[in-house]
Amino acid sequence: MSAPESRFVRACRGLPVDRTPMWFMRQAGRYMAEYRAVRQHHSLVEICKKPALAAEVTITAAERLSVDAAIIFADLLLPLEVMGLPFRFAEGEGPVIEEPLRNAHDVAALRTDQASHLGYVSEAIRKVVKHFGETLPVIGFCGAPFTLASYMIEGGSSRSYINTKRMMYLQPLVWDELMSKLIAVLAEYSIEQARAGADAIQVFDSWVGCLSVEDYRSYVLPHVTRLIERLQTTGVPVIYFGTETAVLLPHMKETGAEVIGVDWRMPLDQAWKSLGFAGAVQGNLDPALLFADHKLLRERTYEVLDRAGGRPGHIFNLGHGILPGTPVENVLALVEFVKEYAGRNAGAPPLAGVAKGGGVHGNS
Ligand code: CP3
Repeated sequence: MSAPESRFVRACRGLPVDRTPMWFMRQAGRYMAEYRAVRQHHSLVEICKKPALAAEVTITAAERLSVDAAIIFADLLLPLEVMGLPFRFAEGEGPVIEEPLRNAHDVAALRTDQASHLGYVSEAIRKVVKHFGETLPVIGFCGAPFTLASYMIEGGSSRSYINTKRMMYLQPLVWDELMSKLIAVLAEYSIEQARAGADAIQVFDSWVGCLSVEDYRSYVLPHVTRLIERLQTTGVPVIYFGTETAVLLPHMKETGAEVIGVDWRMPLDQAWKSLGFAGAVQGNLDPALLFADHKLLRERTYEVLDRAGGRPGHIFNLGHGILPGTPVENVLALVEFVKEYAGRNAGAPPLAGVAKGGGVHGNS
């Protein structure tokens, strides 16, 4: 860990902080001119594979926004390649996996011995950690086994996840083997990110909300729990995030993740309540509100913070990633609103044991 006393890491552990820490999923992305400038000369995968470029993109976004954590620039799908499933990003279509998995033979052919070839990600983390030192924590990440399996089986994005569910229902042993293989690669990959200095690991289970509680418990929970337990051997907190998870939240909590990331569909206090107010929560402003005017954006930001109610263990974030086309000035305004909200209570006695600093720009 590089910034264990930062307000972000303290909040992940449910400890009191001087103000609510924030960062945004997809904070480095196409909405930002600096990112688009780099993309003019390099493909997405090229940026991921060149540690100097990945570090630059990560640092630029965190500094431009002056948020409380930097998320390493990479992509969820990178592990597919080292398992033997090449993919590409098609213009306007999203990711495309050329030969999706369908049967036992395809799953048996997946490799688990090449995770070290993803070392470019941990190398990029080392560079970011070196740049920020103790002033700003760095978040590593990986996809959750279910969400990655859904890309491997569907061949890209999906509406119904029917091929994925078909494998779960009709070939449960093949499904288990796929989960085990993914866990082997994802654990090695993410543990390496923590060793490189990442202060937290976020596990993205973006599409898990397509499952019923029963299917989540039968086909996903035991596997993702195993992955999270392995990540926790590094000592860094784990953030477990999904969307459309209102009914799944108490079950997701059983993984033991320190932080549960929630989308915008459920009011934050209700989500936290369904987690028994145990552990930390991250979220949950609708990213579409970044297209609203500042008055509404401020109101809704304050509403999220009011619902968190000053309990220790809230990390402010969006309910999902920043959307392409989002006006950057609105993201900057959002950062100010979160800081301004904390300032409304200025003059109140500081909470005992609150760490100073933690942001690139101090306590502003
Ligand atoms: O958050 C960050 O700033 C870190 C970077 C990051 C990227 N992808 C870079 C990226 C992160 C955390 C991801 C995770 C990711 N990738 C997820 C999980 C998060 C989520 O949104 O639920 C998923 C599902 C993917 C797979 C993926 N990569 C998709 C569906 C797409 C969109 C395809 C498209 O054409 O819009 C990508 C591409 C991608 N990954 C972009 C970025 C900045 C945008 C495309 C680009 O620059 O060309």
